[in-house]
Parts: sequence; structure tokens; C-alpha cells
Amino acid sequence: MTEWIWLNGDILPLGDAKISVEDRGFQFADGVYEVIRFYDGKLFTAPEHLARLKRSAEGIKIPPPLESTHLETEIEKLLGASGLQDGMIYLQLTRGVAPRDHVYGSMPPTLLFYARELPPVPEPGAGPGVKLISVEDQRWQRCWIKSIALLPNILAKNEVVAQGADEAVFIENGLVTECSTSNIFALLGPRLITHPVGPKVLPGITRELVLEIAPTLGLIVEERGLGLDELRQADEIFITSTTREIAWAARWNDHPIRTGRCGPITEKLQQAYRDKVRAATGSALTTA
Ligand code: PDD
Repeated sequence: MTEWIWLNGDILPLGDAKISVEDRGFQFADGVYEVIRFYDGKLFTAPEHLARLKRSAEGIKIPPPLESTHLETEIEKLLGASGLQDGMIYLQLTRGVAPRDHVYGSMPPTLLFYARELPPVPEPGAGPGVKLISVEDQRWQRCWIKSIALLPNILAKNEVVAQGADEAVFIENGLVTECSTSNIFALLGPRLITHPVGPKVLPGITRELVLEIAPTLGLIVEERGLGLDELRQADEIFITSTTREIAWAARWNDHPIRTGRCGPITEKLQQAYRDKVRAATGSALTTA
């Protein structure tokens, strides 16, 4: 099946798309990105993702080329052309093409997006559970910007995958910030704890939904850095992202979390999250 891409206003086969070697995204990682989920051919939380894209673009002074509602319509067009039902949109906005120079002038940005199928996530409470390993947080102080400059994340993730884990948990000054491709939460009794967004934590769209759901389940939300001792004592730990939704953690370094099974509160959060997806997209949600 042909994969389609939207590139600067044109829809064409992904394999035919061409970007200049002097695109600043290629030479300087001078750009931002988004990953948006779709279920049953319908975008989920697109306005929230596009609002974050706008903030990220403003954060590195790239003028957004399209207004958010217009952009959403263009993404829907591409999605329709792709014929896919369940997957993600990868969207990238770079400063554009110019002779290589650290100093940027003004130029038309490069905007592109394409759709890709994703496998269904496990049923609430099911699946193998993710294995986490902690690493030192060596990223910059503007992690709220969804920058395509992801080398520290990539190195951290590959380091832990080589040790048999799934996700790297960043630790800064003894506190847990977030993971290499997701946000992280711990449950201690009725308290749900996660680091505040800002210099070291991306304002995850999935994270935001979890914080909305939590009080409806009687949880007390605390947005603060988690100490390593607390993480060791946590009743339940889970990570969140657009592609994984809410994924329960089975191991943290050498410590099994609970009995290696998904905790009851994480399962309830997963169910409530899936209810939101169903309500917003009308999807019946196929699960693994
Ligand atoms: N990553 N923190 C980091 C560093 C991330 O890269 C991501 C998502 C998140 C979760 O954000 P959201 O819930 O909005 O997806 C947190 C995407 C999925 C990626 O890079 O593929």
C-alpha cells in the first residue's frame, strides 16, 4: 500500500518526497514535531497537539505556517488519502532551507506530515508491563519544546534497550523528571505523583488527560519531583504517551514493581482513558 505524505501543501507518495540537504532540520535539528494518534480514521486530541506545536514553534521562533484549524483540516485530508484506520500522524516543522549558517534569517518553513499504522495497545490491565532503567538526565532546560533534537533521548533509550529494558527514566538531582519518550507517574496510596511540566518535562497530552481523570477516581494529584526512594516504594508506576497510552511498569532497575502484574488503579485509569478515546472518536477500539 502506498504511503502518502503532505509536504509544504502537496500530497505525494512518501517515497517521492524530497527535502534539500540544506534544510535546517537536517543540518541543525532546527525544528519541532508532533505525534498525533488516530483511531478508526479519526484524529484524537488534535487541537491539543496543534496548540503544543504552536507553543513549540514559538519557543524556537519559527513562524507557524498554517493556522491550527486549517492545519487540522489538511491532516484530515492526508489521513483520508492514506486509508489507514489506527495509527499515528508524524508531523515535523523545520525552520526551512537556506545556505548553511548558524545565524538564521527569515525563510519559508518546511512542514510535512504522514500517517503510519500502529499495532493496537493491550487491553487495560494486560500486556507484559514495561521495564524501566534510570539514567542521568543530560538534556537541555527547554524540554517543554517538542524539539526534533532528540540525541540525548535516543542515546539514553538505546543504552537501556541494550540492557533489556523498554524505557529510560531520566534522573536529575536525585529526582525523576520524565522518560526518554514518555511521562512517568507513581502511585503511593491515594496519591498520584508526577513531575511538573517545564524545563525538564514535556507537557504530554496523555499526561494531561490522566491528570483530568485522576480526581474522578478519588486520587490526589501531586505535581512534584519524585525521589528515588519513593519510586522504590511506589504501589504502582506507569508511563504515558500518545502511542503507548497508559503503560504499566513491571520493573524499575532491579526492583520488581508489585508482583509483576498491572496495578488496579493503573487499570482503572487505562479504562477511563479508553472511554475518552471511544467518546471522542467513536472507535470500538481493537486491542491486542
Ligand atoms: N513522544 N516526554 C517525551 C520526552 C516524549 O517524547 C513524549 C512523547 C512524551 C509524551 O507526550 P504525549 O503524551 O503528548 O505523546 C513525554 C512521542 C510519542 C514520540 O517521540 O514518538
